[in-house]
Amino acid sequence: MENKKTYYVTTPIYYPSDNFHVGHCYTTCIADALARYKREKGYDVFFLTGSDEHGQKIEERAKKAKVSPKEFVDPIIDNAKDLWQSLNISYDKFIRTTDAEHVACVQKVFQKLYDQGDIYKGSYEGWYCTPCESFWTESQLVDGKCPDCGREVHLMKEDAYFLKLSKYQKEFEAYLNANRDLMQPESRYNEMVNNFLKPGLKDLCVSRASVKWGIPVTFDENQTIYVWIDALTNYISALGYLSDDDSLFQKYWPADLHLVGKEIFRFHTIIWPIILMALGLPLPKKVYGHGWLTIDGGKISKSKGNYKDPREFIKDYGADTLRYYILSEVPFGSDGNFSELLMVERRNSDLANILGNLVNRTVAMTNKYFDGSVKRLKKVTDLDKEVIIDLNAMDKQVETKIEALDVPGALAVIFNNLKRLNKYIDETTPWILAKDENQKERLNDVLYLILEGIRLCAVNLKAFIPETADKIFAILNTEYQSFDYAKVGVPNFKVVKKADILFDRIDEEALKEKLSAEEEMVEEAATEAKIEHLPEITIDDFGKVELLVGQVLDCKKHPEADRLLISQVDVGHGEIRQIVTGIADYVEPEKMVNSKVVVVANLKKAKIRGVESEGMLLVGEDDELLNVLTSTCKVGTRIR
Ligand code: ME8
Ligand code: MG
Repeated sequence: MENKKTYYVTTPIYYPSDNFHVGHCYTTCIADALARYKREKGYDVFFLTGSDEHGQKIEERAKKAKVSPKEFVDPIIDNAKDLWQSLNISYDKFIRTTDAEHVACVQKVFQKLYDQGDIYKGSYEGWYCTPCESFWTESQLVDGKCPDCGREVHLMKEDAYFLKLSKYQKEFEAYLNANRDLMQPESRYNEMVNNFLKPGLKDLCVSRASVKWGIPVTFDENQTIYVWIDALTNYISALGYLSDDDSLFQKYWPADLHLVGKEIFRFHTIIWPIILMALGLPLPKKVYGHGWLTIDGGKISKSKGNYKDPREFIKDYGADTLRYYILSEVPFGSDGNFSELLMVERRNSDLANILGNLVNRTVAMTNKYFDGSVKRLKKVTDLDKEVIIDLNAMDKQVETKIEALDVPGALAVIFNNLKRLNKYIDETTPWILAKDENQKERLNDVLYLILEGIRLCAVNLKAFIPETADKIFAILNTEYQSFDYAKVGVPNFKVVKKADILFDRIDEEALKEKLSAEEEMVEEAATEAKIEHLPEITIDDFGKVELLVGQVLDCKKHPEADRLLISQVDVGHGEIRQIVTGIADYVEPEKMVNSKVVVVANLKKAKIRGVESEGMLLVGEDDELLNVLTSTCKVGTRIR
């Protein structure tokens, strides 16, 4: 048997998240389309995805949930796999950084780099952003905050191991000059060179003393391996590198393509290649840094509350609608806006109108005029030739786009052919031919060519919207589904009696109403949460309120009002005040005794249900909790 060409494509390994959103589907859908495409083209493909499970963030979240980190992540990983399944993601392996094989591999890599002097012990001080798990130098901070996410950073100093990136800078630059393909697209290459290589590489901190949830350094029990060496090594540990059986590694490495979001491009195009260089391994052929799906111009994120479980979209519109939108809408490399409405508009205009209608009309006509059977076309007109030339060129054109990683461009080629076929129907008017007995052969040829065109488009669509392509093959009853048969020329067709609608039209107006109703609800909730501020006061106004720290000497229930407590409060300066407060539903009188409270001392005296009150206590109250404000200052202290 002839050895097939291999193709190894990866997504990043994802952080365990309860809130996977369409942004997370982006890298994965593109990688899946490429993997499927290469398989169809006869490559021996290995498509890797997985999860990145170590680090401080997980440690903290697990602690909050009162479970071990592993127990914490397990159900989240199941959830992720369920999402990928519902999107028809055809990965060959799902790696978890908690897999024993991965852990062993990372430890060996670390040991090897240490043994050969590329990792050394030092001490690290830097500004650390916990959510991003990144250290930053002072000059990298933006307004003193994390340059990636804008959140608080804190100064940390500890013993740590370092990787000698600096040692490899020259060698790496020489490699890069000869292998520009490593960093794609071009704009990001310039960014890496100008921002990181030109200023000179600094050695990288690769272990942490303060994080327990990580892969232990084998020769130093106080240290765990810092997330990036752990995470990046997944691309080779998944293939069995340094294990008893490294046949996959021998077969597939180096990777043909690492697909990553732009924010982790640096790790993949500088740090990862240098790690590989130090290990004496070949470098990946290409790393592509794509843009983000955004909502209203911002990155989709849980904190912004603008995410929705992609499975809701899949339930409502099918996996292929989401896949098609993701794959066709955003020019690869740039950011692109996402909205449910845009997705539905694309479904209606492209999938329902252009593709679905074409299939349904053609199948209906084939059944009506020929009882579902047409023979291979005999007489080719000039018009037919035009269409055939386009159809026969499609395969190559799509391939060229895919080689350039222009997935939207590839889909555009296919949809242009579908549009051409719709136009061909208008030009040939089969319903008029059908009225003329002498045109029977011409009618056969016309329908044959349209069916053949649909089949060829489906062959090309299979990698991108696989469920739909398979439905079309079933409707056409054709066995010839592969690129080996991607030229006009199938012998004949016998289509199904009645084709199911591929994509029903979604009512855009109704969706708009639904979405704006949802938006209103969100806005209402936000308004409710907002507080009505009181009119502004000056410092002098505030100064009129005399606040003193007092100690409760005695507290009992009001004899005539269930909700009221009567306290005797020592406010210092030889004064004891009697104060009536409406807190009996929340506080036991005995519990009040001895607590040091804050008293409004110059409040006008009043009688409350017959009992004199000389001041009031400061109390905070929300839906569930009442809290009498206390102070640890001395009795009689003035608060201002
Ligand atoms: O970064 N649009 O994991 P991750 C497009 N564990 N892509 C998006 C996106 C959006 N709105 N949101 C996320 C990590 N992504 C590390 C990787 S690899 C050795 C370690 C993409 O879960 C993001 O750009 O934060 C990245 O490519 C992927 O989702 C995983 O992100
Ligand atoms: Mg990220």
